[in-house]
Amino acid sequence: MLKTKGRVSLLNEIEGIDSLKGHIGIAHTRWATHGKPSKENSHPHMDNSKNFSVVHNGIIENYIELKTFLVSKGYNFLSQTDTEVIPNLIHYYYSQESSNNKFLHAVKRACDDLKGSFAIEVISILHPDHVIVTRKDSPLVVGKGDNENFISSDIPAILSFTKNFYLLNDNEYAEIYNDKILFYDKDLNEISKELKNINWDSSSAEKNGFEDYMLKEIFEEPNAIRETIGTKLSIGKDIVLDELNFTKDYLKSINKIYIVACGTAMHAGLATKTLIENLCNITVIVDIASEFRYRDPLVDEKTLAIFVSQSGETADTIAALKLAKSKGAKTIAVSNVIGSSITREADYSIYTHAGPEIAVASTKAYTSQVTLLAIIGLYFSETLEHSNKDFINNIKKDILSLPDKVSNILDNVNCIKDFAKQVYTEHDMFYIGRGNDYAVAQEGSLKLKEISYIHSESYASGELKHGTIALIENGVTVVSIITDETLAPKSLSNIQEVITRGAKTFIITNQNLDDKNFDFVFKIDNISPYLSPILSIVPMQLFAYYVAKEKKLDVDKPRNLAKSVTVE
Ligand code: M6R
Repeated sequence: MLKTKGRVSLLNEIEGIDSLKGHIGIAHTRWATHGKPSKENSHPHMDNSKNFSVVHNGIIENYIELKTFLVSKGYNFLSQTDTEVIPNLIHYYYSQESSNNKFLHAVKRACDDLKGSFAIEVISILHPDHVIVTRKDSPLVVGKGDNENFISSDIPAILSFTKNFYLLNDNEYAEIYNDKILFYDKDLNEISKELKNINWDSSSAEKNGFEDYMLKEIFEEPNAIRETIGTKLSIGKDIVLDELNFTKDYLKSINKIYIVACGTAMHAGLATKTLIENLCNITVIVDIASEFRYRDPLVDEKTLAIFVSQSGETADTIAALKLAKSKGAKTIAVSNVIGSSITREADYSIYTHAGPEIAVASTKAYTSQVTLLAIIGLYFSETLEHSNKDFINNIKKDILSLPDKVSNILDNVNCIKDFAKQVYTEHDMFYIGRGNDYAVAQEGSLKLKEISYIHSESYASGELKHGTIALIENGVTVVSIITDETLAPKSLSNIQEVITRGAKTFIITNQNLDDKNFDFVFKIDNISPYLSPILSIVPMQLFAYYVAKEKKLDVDKPRNLAKSVTVE
């Protein structure tokens, strides 16, 4: 067993790495929950007899109770992790087992004792020909190869080895050999599983000449939006979404729509709330999944709840979905990953077609999510026969123009790079806007802080003077989005207020402004204010990227963050 603290690439430097022998292996990059990042706390963890090794993604909530029990039976612990109870519990049950398949039964008995979430891989020197895996509320996929098989928590990680996957459900087990895979239900009855083919191009999970995945994924946005629109839209014809297929009577029966998600996916909900509300005349509440799940929300059969998740594996979003379902709501999953957990839980699933997103900072997933949610809003509106056809047709034309308009932005990135060079040493930046420009300001601010580590906040422009303007001074940059001509005069007054207090200004706009009044103006094409976040976010993504590059940071793997947040 070899392990170390730090980046995966450091594994190459561990003494003994070249002399590792064997044909099966397990590995895990730990995201520290219990115990600081250190070699002792890294995975795999072994039992005291060194017969069983385990890697685990998730959180064992009752680990203190289990550890106390195991200590009373004479077991010692070397780490501060919750995970270390698992191999020791397996050893404990293994020594009591008399069944034919002692290894599998011992793993199951250990898992029966665990509370919380887990996806685990177990190997044993006593059974050197296979790996046992299982999951509960944490993701795990099994990739089928040719005389070799793979295990991972998500598909993109092993896409270059196979495109054929089995998806394990909660409390199912698999024994993985090089030439066969056996599946079991929660009671260890053998079951068969459907092999799914994922048609993602494996090169889409590679950098293809770009310096970083994030930059590549920003440049993939026109295509991701185009693929997400697919054949769903045509001018003059009602949208048909086979995935949802709702009737007018059903949509008339609901009194509110929830959009629930985390981080960027939640921001995609904020960016489409007004479109859905105005076009359908139904209240739309956008909520953070980790809040929704714990506050007994007012949800019943008259609620339609939409859960948005790029990965489809975000623990809080899955828990929120289960809650809404248990309260009688109809649930829709909007995800980028076919067969992901959220899509298996929801009543209906509909996909963005952004292709694999590898960089931790979400870019093409956001613009695809906003596009798809807008299409869903139009579909509801047409089914309800709520809005004027010409009005809907104009929005459809704007949606179809999005790929070209995003490409226009990408043709013009150097000026953003230059402005990033001027401000990358700053410590505070503010993002402001009104209406949908405020919704997208929240996403712009998140992008900057997560990859550049610059403190940033987003504000509704009109709120600045209620407190935050006290922080505006020389050395602060204010990014301001102005894309709605009805709100532009108000936004411009707010910008004057920050200029007066010494801030630098970066304006993203489709209005004709007098450039010389501002430090940097980036022009985007005109579009319906309902869709403007899909354009205005792109310069903000690029700005965050170039600021982080100037600071020589790892943009694809920012500190403390994981691509899929599969723990609470
Ligand atoms: O996979 P999900 O869309 O459910 O992820 C939700 C958030 O963790 C995610 O959007 C996060 O905020 C982004 N990585 C930020 O760029």
